[in-house]
Amino acid sequence: MANEQESFKKVISHAKEYGYIFPSSEIYDGLSAVYDYGQNGAELKKNIKEYWWKAMVQMHENIVGVDSAIFMHPTTWKASGHVDAFNDPLIDNKDSKKRYRADVLVEDHAAKIEAKIEKEVKKAEKRFGADFDKEQFLSTNPRVLRYQEEIDTILKRLGRSLEKEDLADVKALIEELGIADPDTGSKNWTDVKQFNLMFGTKLGATAESAMDLYLRPETAQGIFVNYLNVQKTGRMKIPFGIAQIGKAFRNEIVARQFIFRMREFEQMEMQFFIKPGTQQEWYEYWKEHRMKWHLSLGIDKENYRYHDHEKLAHYADAASDIEFRFPFGFKELEGIHSRTDFDLASHERFSGKKLQYFDPEENKSYIPYVLETSIGLDRMFLAVFSSALQEEELENGTSRTVLRLPAVLAPYKAAILPLVKKDGLPEIARKIFDELKWDFNVDYDEKDAVGRRYRRQDAAGTPFCITVDHETLDNETVTIRHRDSMEQKRVPISDLKGIIDEETAMSSWLKRIQ
Ligand code: GAP
Repeated sequence: MANEQESFKKVISHAKEYGYIFPSSEIYDGLSAVYDYGQNGAELKKNIKEYWWKAMVQMHENIVGVDSAIFMHPTTWKASGHVDAFNDPLIDNKDSKKRYRADVLVEDHAAKIEAKIEKEVKKAEKRFGADFDKEQFLSTNPRVLRYQEEIDTILKRLGRSLEKEDLADVKALIEELGIADPDTGSKNWTDVKQFNLMFGTKLGATAESAMDLYLRPETAQGIFVNYLNVQKTGRMKIPFGIAQIGKAFRNEIVARQFIFRMREFEQMEMQFFIKPGTQQEWYEYWKEHRMKWHLSLGIDKENYRYHDHEKLAHYADAASDIEFRFPFGFKELEGIHSRTDFDLASHERFSGKKLQYFDPEENKSYIPYVLETSIGLDRMFLAVFSSALQEEELENGTSRTVLRLPAVLAPYKAAILPLVKKDGLPEIARKIFDELKWDFNVDYDEKDAVGRRYRRQDAAGTPFCITVDHETLDNETVTIRHRDSMEQKRVPISDLKGIIDEETAMSSWLKRIQ
């Protein structure tokens, strides 16, 4: 736990030091759970968006994108169920006056038991060495089985109580498990209450004419209300999808863990409209396909797992999370939801407008079912960034900090470094910079000794450093150094574009998804 906290602190300070993420309005001491992306963060974020957009829209003939407004007619949120059901159960500690999400307190308790299982696995791994069979150990070791049963019982009861809105039982569970305020250790809790997460605002110039609005808590509804517009104008045939990237806002009770849980964040969502009855097949397809997208980035697959939901949101008949091993443990990164016809049927009822699809093969009209994939852009950023940040011991006894971002997502693809600031080397380096900038985002750096510049670029995540030295003057070659292996090769200047392209081109990374 102490280690986890340490490595998480490093992630946060590195993100600031290298211009990835700053606290919002920091000169006024910041704003709780709101963050700004700096010069490198904005690039990384943009690249993640593009990687998602291309994988969804460009790679699928039957998926198109929209960009709907953040403000929507307030009835949208009545129809979607958010006004009545978009609540979190909150609990206050009477001594510390701190507010928590009751379900998260219980889930964190279960995660502590899970950590005990991981500890048992590590111990056994050490004991049995190469003969260790993890699967067998997990399914037969009595202590592990006891822990697992404990977790299952707790989470099942939590799921049941939340589903029945039995908040008294959620409090009883917290008390029975002896859960204490994580900050103070106090067990003096209030009752559990529901809290709506939507931010309200007003539209209109005068108090009389002002209309109460909400800031959208998800981008999905902007897709549903445009379903018919897109289907008709795009002549889309079922199955087809509509994708969107945009801001969402939630007044989270406990917004913490850096950019993991924010009050203003971005989502990348896709609603896939299908024939009723085919939802199971599409649910499996999108679960697998989205996992392939994640794995295509080359991040260790041990960092990912599925978590199928026991407790379903008000709109879903099946749901699974893709969880990621963040510095503070496995947590939800993306949701795959089978939303049935809940949203379209509800919008049809509330708006009085038909939202049906005429299926020429079936010769009948129906309200399509929907399969949704929904990922938080900021969470994806945190997943990529935190798993990339590594402290590496080197053979010469020193160490280096390296940000092993997937090259396709790195803010700068290469840095051009003249070895010294004289002898005509900066002029050649500038010329290389000016040629490469048409195809790649490249950096130019001539300050400090070249070794320090390498370390700086390693820590900033730049995959290549190109050094112009005195030999360049003779034969138009430079050295190209690879961030991950630190290997250096001498290559003709004319080969640079091809070399960088081979490792960073989005098309070759996207091909891994197939
Ligand atoms: N349209 C479905 C939907 O919004 P969700 O599970 O509430 O489902 C989807 O959210 C994704 O949005 C989550 O998996 C997470 O990645 C991201 N997300 C949700 N709340 C967030 C928050 N407060 N801060 C950052 N990301 C968040």
